[in-house]
Amino acid sequence: MSKMSLSELARMKQEKRRIAMVTAYDAPSARLADDAGVDCILVGDSAAMTVLGHESTLPITMDEMVMLTGAVTRGARRPLIIADMPFGSYQVTSRRAVQSAVRLVKEGGADAVKLEGAGLTLKRVSAIVGAGVPVVGHVGLTPQSATLLGGYKTQGQTATKARRLIDEARALQDAGCFAVVLEAMPEPVGARITEALSIPTIGIGAGASCDGQVLVWHDLLGLTTGHVPLFVQRYAAIGEAIRTALGEYVRDVRSGAFPSARHRYAMPAAELDVLNAG
Ligand code: KIV
Repeated sequence: MSKMSLSELARMKQEKRRIAMVTAYDAPSARLADDAGVDCILVGDSAAMTVLGHESTLPITMDEMVMLTGAVTRGARRPLIIADMPFGSYQVTSRRAVQSAVRLVKEGGADAVKLEGAGLTLKRVSAIVGAGVPVVGHVGLTPQSATLLGGYKTQGQTATKARRLIDEARALQDAGCFAVVLEAMPEPVGARITEALSIPTIGIGAGASCDGQVLVWHDLLGLTTGHVPLFVQRYAAIGEAIRTALGEYVRDVRSGAFPSARHRYAMPAAELDVLNAG
């Protein structure tokens, strides 16, 4: 299978073939996603919470995102790799935004980057696209501005707010985005945006009408502890499987059942005799 391209994603929208995207943060996970036929991998700044143990996405740094992106790009061949631009890496100036995007592509090997919001972000999108880096937009619940939004809440629940989201998504398309992530909004709003745009929409809690879907690796596989959002479908209980396996390991170490005879290296008897004689 050839590498996923922006034109193939555009074609998928036109032909109503749905796009499957998942987050990943390391090489073996990226390889598994590739094997499973995933179209796009998002190296999400959700890594701040899912793998680095922070309470929000805000603390993750550019260096950390570059390192995680590099791991993912080394693990996957076919999927398009999109790296999230972390909080603070694009808000201050367009120059800084371009430098950050270039690092994710040049050092991390990303094919594209993702930025949150509209407003000020529109200028940053134009600058990054102008520098030759493809950009994905992200509207609705934008976790980097969760405090401003009043928490991790569904967005666009009134007609006025829904219209604002539609306008923002359109503005991101006009600024040069090749796709937009729609997060946590009523199904009809996701549908209206998908209809209004010529670029693909990738939904996470935005209903079934989106051109594609994205889920966070840990949510999808049952690795998340604590609150799981309403829009998550768990396809496995990997966390449970790991807990059971580790429990058995601990039990076997304590009882001496592991390592068993087949895990031990042998030594020639004559050498053993010499060793024991000394
Ligand atoms: O960081 C992330 O994982 C994301 C997805 C939730 C879309 O932005």
